[in-house]
Amino acid sequence: MSSAYLPHEAEIFERLEEGRDIFTLRLRFTDPQMHAAYRFDPGQFNMLYVYGVGEIPISIVSDPEDEHAYDHTIRRLGRVTHTLAELKQGDRIGVRGAFGRGWPMQQAEDKDMVIITGGLGCAPVVSVINYVLNRRERFRRLIIMQGVKHANDLIWREKYETWNRMPDTQVVLAASQGGQGWPWATGHITELVSEIDFDPQNCSVMMCGPEGMMIAALKELLPRQVPEPSIWLSMERNMQCAVGHCGHCQHGPNFVCKDGPVFNYPEIKPLLGIRGF
Ligand SMILES: Cc1cc2nc3c(=O)[nH]c(=O)nc-3n(C[C@H](O)[C@H](O)[C@H](O)COP(=O)(O)OP(=O)(O)OC[C@H]3O[C@@H](n4cnc5c(N)ncnc54)[C@H](O)[C@@H]3O)c2cc1C
Ligand code: FES
Repeated sequence: MSSAYLPHEAEIFERLEEGRDIFTLRLRFTDPQMHAAYRFDPGQFNMLYVYGVGEIPISIVSDPEDEHAYDHTIRRLGRVTHTLAELKQGDRIGVRGAFGRGWPMQQAEDKDMVIITGGLGCAPVVSVINYVLNRRERFRRLIIMQGVKHANDLIWREKYETWNRMPDTQVVLAASQGGQGWPWATGHITELVSEIDFDPQNCSVMMCGPEGMMIAALKELLPRQVPEPSIWLSMERNMQCAVGHCGHCQHGPNFVCKDGPVFNYPEIKPLLGIRGF
């Protein structure tokens, strides 16, 4: 059996409550050598294995150069995520990874970067935001757009406010249902794409979230003359092996686990939004 199938033991170094049903687990491999050798790129994911319960893919949200721990922000949904939510500091799980193709950070250098996310879609791009802010001189304008259904669904409010105060950085938030005390826009985040200030001819757009949201964003971006190869999307499919063998995550000719989860728009354009794919 290939070692890619074998989970390695990791310990919960810290646990953070992020919001209603959302929490972050900061993990370290229990083998110090394994921990020191562990590498990942922004946009990659790990398979988290809760012994006796099951294994699921979860994006890595920390900066690749943070040596202390690697972080996963998780929404409580079903069997595995409910059990993960019960774990405390010091508890242990199995981890395989990092897997998949991450965001094209080197190609994005010297360009404006537009990040558009919906719901917990923001998780896989937090590592991108941290990466850019820690290497600010390599990138131009950073625009962070995040949409949620309800104002209460927004996590990391303080982080967004901090990012919005950074030089050459703009944060745009929208909730479909804003309500009292919601200082940002009300409506769909994609409706605001036409209003943001960036250079369409020299940008990278990175999107993550429900497919319908990403399709709506494309309808705003393409008329602004953003070239199709400048647009990148992170896709979600059910996974089992995570290494391109089992076929569970197949998306046309691609395996989301191995060829993605981050795809260049022209690669997946023909199948985007088609039921069954
Ligand atoms: C590459 C990749 C990265 C991911 N990164 C993250 C992450 O950073 N944080 C995170 O919280 N989740 C992430 N997910 C989704 C996560 O893997 C699923 O939510 C998880 O598998 C649910 O497992 P469960 O056993 O708790 O729920 P299950 O028992 O499998 O499902 C419970 C219910 O939720 C529904 N459901 C399952 N998965 C999803 C989903 N993705 N979206 C909406 N409904 C769903 C099911 O249909 C079912 O009704 C990612 C998925 C992929 C493919
Ligand atoms: S999860 Fe097995 S091929 Fe992708």
